[in-house]
Amino acid sequence: MLLIKGGRIIDPASGRDELGHLVLKEGKVDGILPGDAPEEFAGKVIDASGMWVVPGLIDMHVHLREPGFEWKEDIRTGTKAAAVGGFTSVACMANTEPVNDTPEITRFIIDKANREGSANVLPVAAISRGLAGKEMTDFTELSEAGAAAFSDDGKYVANSLLMRRVMEYARPFGFPVLVHAEDPDLAAGGYANEGWNAIRLGIAGAPAVAEEVAIARDILIARQTGGRLHIQHISTRMGVEMLRMAKRAGLNVTGETAPHYFTLTDAALEGYDTNAKVNPPLRSEEDRMAVLEGLRDGTIDAIASDHAPHDDSLKECEFSSAACGIIGLQTTLSLALALMKEGTISPVRVVELLSASPARILSLRGKGTLAPGADADVTVIDPETEWEFRREAIMSKSKNSPFIGWKLRGRAVATICRGIIRHEAARGEESF
Ligand code: DOR
Repeated sequence: MLLIKGGRIIDPASGRDELGHLVLKEGKVDGILPGDAPEEFAGKVIDASGMWVVPGLIDMHVHLREPGFEWKEDIRTGTKAAAVGGFTSVACMANTEPVNDTPEITRFIIDKANREGSANVLPVAAISRGLAGKEMTDFTELSEAGAAAFSDDGKYVANSLLMRRVMEYARPFGFPVLVHAEDPDLAAGGYANEGWNAIRLGIAGAPAVAEEVAIARDILIARQTGGRLHIQHISTRMGVEMLRMAKRAGLNVTGETAPHYFTLTDAALEGYDTNAKVNPPLRSEEDRMAVLEGLRDGTIDAIASDHAPHDDSLKECEFSSAACGIIGLQTTLSLALALMKEGTISPVRVVELLSASPARILSLRGKGTLAPGADADVTVIDPETEWEFRREAIMSKSKNSPFIGWKLRGRAVATICRGIIRHEAARGEESF
């Protein structure tokens, strides 16, 4: 039994934003007590005064790198980073080695996570065998093995006929198809956003239209098939606008963005910082503003880290040969809270973007809410304390973040997953 006492309980799924005491029992939410806290409690008590108590955060876009790239990250270290960052659930992408395109790999990930994980792990299986974009995987056996969704993330399903079949086939399963929207021919050879910064630095550019064309096609296929489409890491103004139009047309389309797209622009490439090399690339200020507006007006449904660990050998090298990716599990919450501080989004919207919406998109029962009977997945957030993101405090095996050295505000002080405390920060600790 656990009592989280005196916090501001924010649960958008039940329309709740009020002071109270949350009781967890046998791995479930038991209920919320109003008024004075009970004087005696037969279990652990966490004092949450001045804190937010929210449904466990869900990161629907993470690369855990296991199996195959365990020197970059593994299920144990990735989920530890998740817990420290406030996440109780992470959806992990299929670009492992072997690719998660068979029930054996899906089951391996689930078993390993059950044994070693500090967070719930939701394996996302590949859309196409070997991520090769040619042959569809077996959705029936993958979903029976426990796949939570399907994605060829890292690669676009360039064959439109295959994408149509995938959307038709996924529909009766009720799964969303998660897409890395990027036309490979338009983006070919580019390492940065096509524009003045890339020209000035002499880095080959990938144009925004590579993403926009891909989003347009997939929305049209979703319209034609009635399937559920989810667009990953939206980074462009027209990408946001097309999602807005699709929603207005009543289509079953959702979208996410990552903190680097609303925090940074391609100006971060100055000095050829390989930690700012990511795919899709950091865009222009105009794109960043459009992403912010999408988060504000409800067009973009979720914030996901796109946590993509790469070891130093792939980042401490010349820009053109560096790997694409940014780790994000320990900075995503703080960067989302920064949007609240600047007045772009409300506290309720922060929780919606990081918990309620990902739970809805992935149809996770008992998650993304603190309603009685829900899973005891809870994040306690200190929205105020300033801290510095230091390299030594990174729990991931890889340290590739452009945010190292940044002063951030707000963080998770306790992360409880299925009733077990997986992270608890010492009070008053300024960096971790
Ligand atoms: O920057 C990225 N890194 N973008 C992706 O789509 C894949 C990811 C990775 O796996 O490293």
